[in-house]
Amino acid sequence: MEIIALTTQAFTKDYTPYIKSFTNLTHILAYLNGKLVSYVAIITRWIQMSNGPLLRTAYVEGLATDLAFRGNGFATQVMRRFITEAQDYDFGALATGSHGFYERLGWRLWEGPLYTRKDNELIAMPEEQGCVMVYTLPKTPPLDIAAPLSIEWRELEPW
Ligand SMILES: CC(C)(COP(=O)(O)OP(=O)(O)OC[C@H]1O[C@@H](n2cnc3c(N)ncnc32)[C@H](O)[C@@H]1OP(=O)(O)O)[C@@H](O)C(=O)NCCC(=O)NCCS
Repeated sequence: MEIIALTTQAFTKDYTPYIKSFTNLTHILAYLNGKLVSYVAIITRWIQMSNGPLLRTAYVEGLATDLAFRGNGFATQVMRRFITEAQDYDFGALATGSHGFYERLGWRLWEGPLYTRKDNELIAMPEEQGCVMVYTLPKTPPLDIAAPLSIEWRELEPW
């Protein structure tokens, strides 16, 4: 319930359907004096660069800090913990409108065309252009940042 309250406040929409739809979910929580102040989820997803192998990807969802506690480094800390927990994955990815926040932490904007994979079909998602960021982990193959990138389809916001 605390997670739903925090994310619903931060995203100004009911976050319940999102949390419920996420599978393979790991929660990272930051508490201050017993209160949940910041949160991020790791979701396991499958990204493909061009025609390369499927990359087991640590995907960021729901990064949120309680309004009253922003600007104190909590989200920075939970994102650092995200990277620590993601070390065994092949790749890191997320979709955001807040590039600046993630760029400071080493994330890079993907420049190539974006797709979702559904029923063996590639569906172009030009509306996501400029929103998807990636993180290189120890197992990440060499990146061509301008290559096509696809992710498995899901009901709520494929990317
Ligand atoms: C984005 C969010 C999680 C940041 O939480 P926070 O705990 O205040 O973040 P931190 O204190 O760790 O970091 C804040 C720093 O990031 C910077 N920052 C925050 N948003 C930024 C942005 N969009 N672009 C550039 N810098 C940004 C701040 O200026 C600050 O920099 P400073 O440390 O040099 O002063 C919080 O504002 C939030 O919950 N927003 C609503 C939900 C949201 O947008 N989530 C991310 C969407 S994917």
